Amino acid sequence: MADMTITGPAPDLASLLKARPFLSLDETDGLCFEGVSLKSIAMQYGTPVWVYGAGEMRRRYRALNAALAAQDLPAHIHYAVKANGHLAILDLFRRLGAGADVVSLGEFLRARRAGIAPDDVVYSGVGKSEAELKAALAAGIGQINVESAEELAMLSGIASGLGVQATVALRMNPDVDAGTHAKITTGLAENKFGIAAADIPALYAHAASLPGLRPVGLALHIGSQILSPTPYATAYAKGADMVRHLRAQGQNVEALDLGGGIGIGYGAEPGLDLAAYAATIRRTVGGLGLRLMVEPGRYLTGPAGLLLASVILQKHTQKRFVVLDAAMTELMRPALYEAWHGILPLDAADFSVPVSPADVVGPVCESADSFAENRALPDLPPGRLVALLDAGAYGAEMSSTYNARPRAASVLADAGTARLITPRQSIEDLWADEILPG
Ligand code: LLP
Repeated sequence: MADMTITGPAPDLASLLKARPFLSLDETDGLCFEGVSLKSIAMQYGTPVWVYGAGEMRRRYRALNAALAAQDLPAHIHYAVKANGHLAILDLFRRLGAGADVVSLGEFLRARRAGIAPDDVVYSGVGKSEAELKAALAAGIGQINVESAEELAMLSGIASGLGVQATVALRMNPDVDAGTHAKITTGLAENKFGIAAADIPALYAHAASLPGLRPVGLALHIGSQILSPTPYATAYAKGADMVRHLRAQGQNVEALDLGGGIGIGYGAEPGLDLAAYAATIRRTVGGLGLRLMVEPGRYLTGPAGLLLASVILQKHTQKRFVVLDAAMTELMRPALYEAWHGILPLDAADFSVPVSPADVVGPVCESADSFAENRALPDLPPGRLVALLDAGAYGAEMSSTYNARPRAASVLADAGTARLITPRQSIEDLWADEILPG
């Protein structure tokens, strides 16, 4: 099982910059993101602060749509809200035509709040509660991806009780190794997700016979941060076989949800080749006359967001530690998955001075609170600013307030201007809703 560190030697600062066309280096303004000086954002809003690039998100959405269209695929993009559910970001993708993929009632209501039509939402997840299913059905949700016989029975009861027809797909577990980190692989038989292929035909027929259900097809999602089309090809071929099998049994199969998982380059390497991905879809399921759905999260928002932090101090023991004012509370991917995130200084001069190894850490009282080990970086005295790259997906969304650290602010950069989209939480906000008994 591959881990989530990058492959090959770590890229230097210049290569990291070069691989990200939305970043530029200005002699006086320093590092700029979508034409906005990151120093000016830090000055105005303080650190740590999330910065998102609207232009890069749009560019990525359009590139995926174009790759799918180039293969003549009738595929609709459902943005995976879990990657970053900020209303401003959901609104941006809605304007481009995206639907949403959600995994909780909270995410569904977020998508609704951002104006995404209920029938443009797909609901996945291994444990949807009765209350969640009821609320989603009553609101007219587009499709529910069912992950077990137990859930199917529950859904039939709820839908008939409400007097509605639930549009359902069965999520098939294709037992395919996505070649990604163990904590984000989902398509192996040993994972908790989906229904074993062997059980699908009987369950599909059962679904068609139950009141309140309208089975329309299958769903597949094999994991996240997938960099090769090969596991997709295997999983989609199994999906195609199942579609043919179900149709031969006389079942109506009109839709196939292909899941998310498109991987990005966290270093200077490219992400999953979109043209190859789309060609894989066409080759495996393109000829079946199905309505297709894709559910990307990370691909759309990951590279289009970064976390700006200030150096609190540099500490020298046997090692050099650069202690930032950002921590695992903001970006927990390195602590949780040993994920590699590029770190760039903001001063132009820092790109041409000598570098030496440093551990980049946060102030939280856990040794896991580390962003990087032995990273080649220039001297970073107190007050110096750095950008943690590719943090737009599973960054803010997985953040916490551990150690009584208020949530960071976030800013959306668009065509040279930056707008505050989340004010920094105040320290008092942390206990504002707590009740002192007596
Ligand atoms: N659809 C389903 C059913 C999913 O479970 C997921 C992600 C997606 C779509 C979107 O996957 P994406 O395109 O973003 O790879 N926190 C981890 C990632 C967890 C992904 C969970 N499921 C990380 O930081 O790497």
